[in-house]
Amino acid sequence: MSQHFISIHFLLLLLILLCTTTTTTLAQPAPAPGPPGPTNITKILEKAGQFTTLIRLLAITNVGDQIKTQLNNSKQGMTILAPTDNAFSALSAGTLNSLNDQQKDELIQFHVIPTFLATSQFQTLSNPIRTQAGDSTYYKFPLNITTSSNSVNITTGVVNATLANSIYSDGSLAVYQVDKVLLPMSLFGPQPPAAAPAPEPVKDKKKTGKDDTAAAGDGSAKANSGVVFLRGDLHAFIPGVFALIGMIYF
Ligand SMILES: *[C@@H]1O[C@H](CO)[C@@H](O)[C@H](O)[C@H]1NC(C)=O
Ligand SMILES: *[C@@H]1O[C@H](CO)[C@@H](O)[C@H](O)[C@H]1NC(C)=O
Ligand SMILES: *[C@@H]1O[C@H](CO)[C@@H](O)[C@H](O)[C@H]1NC(C)=O
Ligand SMILES: *[C@@H]1O[C@H](CO)[C@@H](O)[C@H](O)[C@H]1NC(C)=O
Ligand SMILES: *[C@@H]1O[C@H](CO)[C@@H](O)[C@H](O)[C@H]1NC(C)=O
Repeated sequence: MSQHFISIHFLLLLLILLCTTTTTTLAQPAPAPGPPGPTNITKILEKAGQFTTLIRLLAITNVGDQIKTQLNNSKQGMTILAPTDNAFSALSAGTLNSLNDQQKDELIQFHVIPTFLATSQFQTLSNPIRTQAGDSTYYKFPLNITTSSNSVNITTGVVNATLANSIYSDGSLAVYQVDKVLLPMSLFGPQPPAAAPAPEPVKDKKKTGKDDTAAAGDGSAKANSGVVFLRGDLHAFIPGVFALIGMIYF
């Protein structure tokens, strides 16, 4: 909100400035801003301050480069949930060191959502949200975002975090500050009760806790739709329209 406000004021100021300069000194061309180029996430985080650990992890896992490439090639955009340095130092000692390279990669991918999310969209998300870490079913990489009147909460099943301010947003990339490192279930949470044979249809679930029921029900059903539930609705809608046209004509 206040950002819009500021930018309107800024634009006005710019306009006034432009008018005055063009009238006084004739056509001193403004320095060309140059092509926008690929978004530099490191730069964004550096500018925001207090993200040195995340910057380092983005670099060593190559997720930073991957985001860059993906941003350039995807129309969906991207959202990064960025834990602060404080969030990383609040982890119990050795947490990061206990992870191998692949697990570090998964941890960082878990903070990246392959869709651009504006602040206003948090209210309408369909949980669990699918992240770049993949499988969002209960014991894997579930991420739920819930909102109340004045807060946006995130739960991974292991930690509850709060989404703080927006650090960056350009319609394609959004970066939000979060107060905790989002630890995924797959790496830090309870694991499914043993004796779960190869993925079988939901049929024979015997001794399940309530967690398991949740995963079998809502969780896994929605797992693959994740953020793109809107498209799903559209797909259901289109055949309906055709059916209707068919009924009218034949
Ligand atoms: C991105 O920004 C960082 C820090 O400002 C800089 O070191 C790096 O060279 C930049 N990368 C690109 C591809 O411009
Ligand atoms: C971005 O994508 C376009 C085509 O989709 C490609 O030509 C260009 O080289 C890419 N730029 C970077 C920096 O990856
Ligand atoms: C979000 O978390 C805060 C505490 O961190 C809690 O007070 C609040 O009720 C939570 N809101 C929702 C919608 O879960
Ligand atoms: C996330 O929300 C879904 C749907 O409401 C629920 O089934 C699942 O248990 C939740 N996961 C976590 C980790 O809270
Ligand atoms: C997260 O919040 C839920 C309810 O909002 C609570 O049941 C759970 O114990 C919390 N988990 C942690 C790790 O704080």
